[in-house]
Amino acid sequence: MSKLALVTGASSGIGLAYAERLAAEGYDLVAVGRRRERLEELAAAVTGVEVQVLVADLATDEGLDAVAGACATRPLTMLVNNAGVSHYMPLAELPAAEARELVAVKVLAPTLLTRAALPGMLERGEGTIVTVSGMLAFSGPAPYSVMPRRAVYAGSLAHAVTMSQALHTELEPTPIRVQVVCPGVVATEFHSRQGLDLSAVPRMTAADVVTASLRGLELGEVVCAPGVEDTGLLDAVFQADLAAFAGQSPELATRYR
Ligand SMILES: NC(=O)c1ccc[n+]([C@@H]2O[C@H](COP(=O)([O-])OP(=O)(O)OC[C@H]3O[C@@H](n4cnc5c(N)ncnc54)[C@H](OP(=O)(O)O)[C@@H]3O)[C@@H](O)[C@H]2O)c1
Repeated sequence: MSKLALVTGASSGIGLAYAERLAAEGYDLVAVGRRRERLEELAAAVTGVEVQVLVADLATDEGLDAVAGACATRPLTMLVNNAGVSHYMPLAELPAAEARELVAVKVLAPTLLTRAALPGMLERGEGTIVTVSGMLAFSGPAPYSVMPRRAVYAGSLAHAVTMSQALHTELEPTPIRVQVVCPGVVATEFHSRQGLDLSAVPRMTAADVVTASLRGLELGEVVCAPGVEDTGLLDAVFQADLAAFAGQSPELATRYR
């Protein structure tokens, strides 16, 4: 039976690695990004499957609507919400247009593309939604340090984690699978496109991120952290989340009285 995956940000890095791996596994592809020539290189390089190049800017309503239209009308087996930018900068200095672009690409696009893909997946009785987040999703409480100024970016990654976890629960009675992928630092163009040189930092390959994601799906993982050896660390975070959630009451807490 034919399989079809739509991958956003398929023109480089992790998205390109998903596209290449899924093509090798027999998936036809809808490859989304702004750089047409990169997407056409991908289409020319893979063999034995069909690749539709969909040039779209997910930061625009027009681009997002075009990709959402493809999600709603093509019989997707898998949606990979991967496109992203980080725009590391103190929030007070972050140009409004860049804040808007980040939230559009990392929050609004995965939300609306997932929403568009789901009805068809539910009707067909199969489908997988993968969203690429990052370990910085868990970096909110980190002290001022060498870490990048990342309030909006880290917030967008946390959105991906919580949305995917809640959606997984929502879809538990159905055959649809949901996964959020949380890599650490990966060797792609992500940082160099921002003028940052992370070549001295130990980095995972994009291919390893995809290996973890696909193996994680076989293992039934909802949160896939390719570089975290001890999954108990993540389980402890989520148990602590639930404990704090359950610790609330309608009474004003004593320390506020
Ligand atoms: N690299 C890391 O260290 C790292 C770590 C954790 C998580 N991540 C996440 O991994 C994902 C992929 O990043 P990467 O590391 O592979 O970086 P990358 O090589 O820079 O790839 C980013 C991809 O997103 C696409 N994209 C960006 N803005 C877009 C827009 N407005 N419309 C459509 N496509 C857009 C780019 O395509 P065009 O430029 O052709 O549009 C490109 O294909 C990101 O979501 C990022 O948050 C990366």
